[in-house]
Amino acid sequence: MFDLLIRNGKVVTPETVLEADVAVQGERIAGLLKTAEPVQAREVIDARGLYVVPGGIDAHVHFDMEFLGQSKHTFESGTIAAAFGGTTTIIDFTLDLKTLGGPLLDAVEKRREKAEGKAVIDFAFHCVVNDGGDDTLRELEQVVAYGVPSFKMFTVYREVNLYVNDATVYNVMERLRDLGGIAAVHTENADIVDYCTARLLAAGQRTPVHYPQSRPTFTEVECIRRVLFLARSARAAVYVVHIAAGEAVAAVRQARAEGRPVYGETCPHYLVLTKAMYARPDGYNYVMSPPLRTEADNEALWEGLAGGWLATVSSDDNSVDVEDKRAGAESFDRASPGCVDVETRIPLLFSEGVVKRRLPITRLVQVASTNPARIFGLYPRKGVIAAGSDADIVLIDPTARLRVSPQTLHMKVQYSPYEGWDVVGMPVTTISRGKVIVNKGAFLGTPGHGRFLPRAIDPAVLQAPV
Ligand code: URP
Ligand code: ZN
Ligand code: ZN
Repeated sequence: MFDLLIRNGKVVTPETVLEADVAVQGERIAGLLKTAEPVQAREVIDARGLYVVPGGIDAHVHFDMEFLGQSKHTFESGTIAAAFGGTTTIIDFTLDLKTLGGPLLDAVEKRREKAEGKAVIDFAFHCVVNDGGDDTLRELEQVVAYGVPSFKMFTVYREVNLYVNDATVYNVMERLRDLGGIAAVHTENADIVDYCTARLLAAGQRTPVHYPQSRPTFTEVECIRRVLFLARSARAAVYVVHIAAGEAVAAVRQARAEGRPVYGETCPHYLVLTKAMYARPDGYNYVMSPPLRTEADNEALWEGLAGGWLATVSSDDNSVDVEDKRAGAESFDRASPGCVDVETRIPLLFSEGVVKRRLPITRLVQVASTNPARIFGLYPRKGVIAAGSDADIVLIDPTARLRVSPQTLHMKVQYSPYEGWDVVGMPVTTISRGKVIVNKGAFLGTPGHGRFLPRAIDPAVLQAPV
């Protein structure tokens, strides 16, 4: 007698699609069974016509964060929105301007306290490093031992004291190589971004339509190449966050072809939106760094995903209050940066990727779930439907449609870049460790169900690309 049986669905593994039933016992997957095998279960879900995929892993979110403005999502509301979008694990950051500068482990514990008792799905953290002092370098070991082996560094944002120089990037990478950790780097050239920004502002070119010129494509590409060079010199693994420029894909591709453990992340907004958004009256809502770019960049990113050169798609969700965004209407530098995508990540990948034949569904599963699990030390507990894995399972109805609007989503902000879009193919049921937490539009989960996930990265991931 199983606790739960998901019958008649199309089970998507990272490699193939199988007609199979999925048996769940307690919090774990008991196994894949032949369709209609005569077994008993306390609860049966008929998934005929639906894809049965591993719960999404969003490796880049910012909930309850103060950073040039306050993100509206608490860990409760953010994880509820994530669950509606088919995500069952999030990785947030110790990014809170109030905790920067203190001991790294304190910052991790403070973030964990914020999430405990609130998150409805499982959660983990990346630790932000914003200085290269000896104390910080020593603390890395403690943080890795605590179960946080991934560290984010910013090559920009001097104005909020996040910027680190090349020496720190290099030093931290070397140290992480020896500790079994990985550096995740935000790559933009600070000097040129700061120069271009100041020049535009001085010329009175302050409205959001000028924003992309403050961070031209080459500032991203130059920095990615530099950071990949530093990683090679340090013989370290690196994860490049939120890639927006098509040319950056070529850099990542080349490094991977050399057999180096280099992983590239992009986001739904960089795949489907362009800088034309900045010409809209609400263009300030789409200020994010790097900025939205061109259709050619969109296409290169899709090719990067399909070709296997980009590894993951994360939301980089920072659902900033519209008031904090609107400050950018008159001067783009005053808009709190970020985009709202935690709920739309998987629906957009399905609708714009799978339905439009840019990605097979197996690839959606890889970039939205399996790869983030592998890179960040959650696999095979997460990221796959297999015996022994956590029963984090999502049912996607390929015929379900959603007209996107703030009212049809569960985000805490009153704007969405996709407002009015018709998304085809929606997660309809989300199961977290064996418990149905979303079903047909109803939230059935509980704050506090989500658990902190201590992680350790598979050494193979740190030695050669997976
Ligand atoms: O503009 C962005 N991406 N805001 C969120 C913070 C970051 O850089 O990840
Ligand atoms: Zn960033
Ligand atoms: Zn971010």
